[in-house]
Amino acid sequence: MQGLALSGAPLCLLSVLAAQSNFPPPPAPTGNPVTADKALLGMALFFEEQLSSTGTVACATCHDFRAAGADRRAATARHPGPDGAYGTADDRHASPGVPARDAQGAVGNATFGHAPQVTPRRTPTVVNSGYHPALFYDGRAQQNELRDPLTNLVVLTGPVALENLVLQPPVNPVEMGHQGRTWDQVANKVAAAQPLFWASDLPGRLATFVQGASYPDLFARVFGTPDVTPVRIVMAIATYLRTLNSDQSKYDRVLAGQIGLTPLEQLGKQVFDTPRNGAVSCRTCHGEFETRVRTEGPIVGLMTMVSSGPYGSMFPTRLLFHNVGVRPIAEDPGRQAVTAVAADAGKFRVASLRNVELMAPYFHNGGARTLREAIDFYDRGGDFHVNQSPNLLPRGYTAHEKDGLEALLLTLTDPRLAQGVAPFDRPRLGSENGRFVQALGPGLPTAAGRPVIADAPLPARLGEAQFALTLSGVTPGAFSLLLFDFVGIEPSVGNYNFVVGVTPTLLCVPRGAAPAIGNVGVQHVPMPLPGDVSFRGLVLFAQWLSLEPSTEMGIVTSNGLRIEIQ
Ligand code: HEC
Ligand code: HEC
Repeated sequence: MQGLALSGAPLCLLSVLAAQSNFPPPPAPTGNPVTADKALLGMALFFEEQLSSTGTVACATCHDFRAAGADRRAATARHPGPDGAYGTADDRHASPGVPARDAQGAVGNATFGHAPQVTPRRTPTVVNSGYHPALFYDGRAQQNELRDPLTNLVVLTGPVALENLVLQPPVNPVEMGHQGRTWDQVANKVAAAQPLFWASDLPGRLATFVQGASYPDLFARVFGTPDVTPVRIVMAIATYLRTLNSDQSKYDRVLAGQIGLTPLEQLGKQVFDTPRNGAVSCRTCHGEFETRVRTEGPIVGLMTMVSSGPYGSMFPTRLLFHNVGVRPIAEDPGRQAVTAVAADAGKFRVASLRNVELMAPYFHNGGARTLREAIDFYDRGGDFHVNQSPNLLPRGYTAHEKDGLEALLLTLTDPRLAQGVAPFDRPRLGSENGRFVQALGPGLPTAAGRPVIADAPLPARLGEAQFALTLSGVTPGAFSLLLFDFVGIEPSVGNYNFVVGVTPTLLCVPRGAAPAIGNVGVQHVPMPLPGDVSFRGLVLFAQWLSLEPSTEMGIVTSNGLRIEIQ
């Protein structure tokens, strides 16, 4: 019997393998081969909120596997766009990063005041990013050499677009950095941090890896010596990203000949593959349904099949960038900012449609809330036509054909993402498990629709000398009060929307007229936290109230804050 069970095991394994499309691994430079321990170190760093200068933003804050590696916060978070006004057509639906700060603390800027800044583009996925020869919407990370940010010497050559990309977010002053942050500072901060201090519910493989270790210990395990250097941080994160490959969708099983499509999905496939009313097929640009993905990985941007127009006949490389007419060029020049070629104005990299179901909102500005809205966008021939890709004309799809396209796109979802199954397993971040200062309730916006935001830029950690509370978004000069209580109440009680309990311990701190940064009224209140451990676990609620004659009530309130000292 035992012999039978043993000989059954390889068979069973074979059938599991056969169920996968098994993309070839993405290319890695010979100087940075993928190893299991290096990928785990990269995983720890990807979820490490202490990688940011505020200590509140990890790569995973914006690149969330529950949204297939994109950011579902983009459904609500807004960047007001070039006009600076909220609720207008140029708003972007994107990702909150860090507030504008210098190394000492408060700076603020004219768009967001002291509130977390929102990225100017929606966050694309990191899943399958190892397969893209050029990264970012405009393809600006595509170098074939990596330079050490400290010495500027070339340290790696080969396919290092990912390594070059990883060099950017930690020193980007919107995403994770502060003004003038250097890689030296990033590496020193990581070296001194307790790995994943804020995260909880670590997946088993990650918990085992970081258990009881410091970062120098972990770097020694992976690289042989304990030095925490910028290049090692970058190599580890890039290695982890090379393991985030999604190749187990329903469509991969179709490609492997294991199952078929439903009639509706088949209709969608036919619509996807077919030119319509002079408009090129979706397939011309989006290659995800090609049988070639099994040998080449998830390709986007096929060799051109467009034989006329500005693209000429056959192109030697994939046509990666197109202007499909999402926004006016003046709002975001896209590829043109990299190449300085006028013909590239408004072009963006073709998006991968893998797991698109989970990644709403869509396009580089997050302008389409649902897949149906994205399909309707193509159906009407896009929205802005200056320098638009030729042959993106109105298509005249029927509702049934649109249903088919939608059904087809849903076959590209890899169930492991939404389920958090490895390699897409994740811990809960400090921003999710209640250990950070939590925002409560939406607050009441000003008459101009600008959100009134209370924030604590840093986590409330015992002894944190830079801890502060901020207010942003009120009318400059508005008289503001900061309310504190040990008791909180459910948000949205009555129109005033108070979350601080009105108990005898209520403390009301008048802060006077709000100073202005640009036309945003702000407050910044330093509150250095004591180091005394008896304060650990203390919970405080705080909220701003500001006199705004323009509103019906004569006041606006910020969101509330729940502050638990950790
Ligand atoms: C505040 C949100 C935010 C954080 C934090 C963040 N990113 Fe991103 N990421 C973005 C945005 C927005 C873009 C697109 C920017 C563009 O195209 O100009 C992007 C692009 C990328 C891409 C390119 C994907 C593609 O297909 O082109 C990768 C890979 C990536 N980020 C990895 C990381 C890593 C690794 C970290 C941590 C070191 C990180 N990101 C931190 C928002 C974020
Ligand atoms: C001329 C090339 C081209 C054609 C044809 C084309 N697309 Fe696209 N598609 C793109 C580009 C480029 C983007 C990224 C645009 C952006 O982010 O602004 C994109 C983005 C998308 C997105 C959003 C993905 C995301 O995560 O943001 C969807 C969905 C999509 N396309 C579906 C389709 C469908 C369905 C068709 C056929 C009706 C089609 N596309 C035809 C080039 C094309």
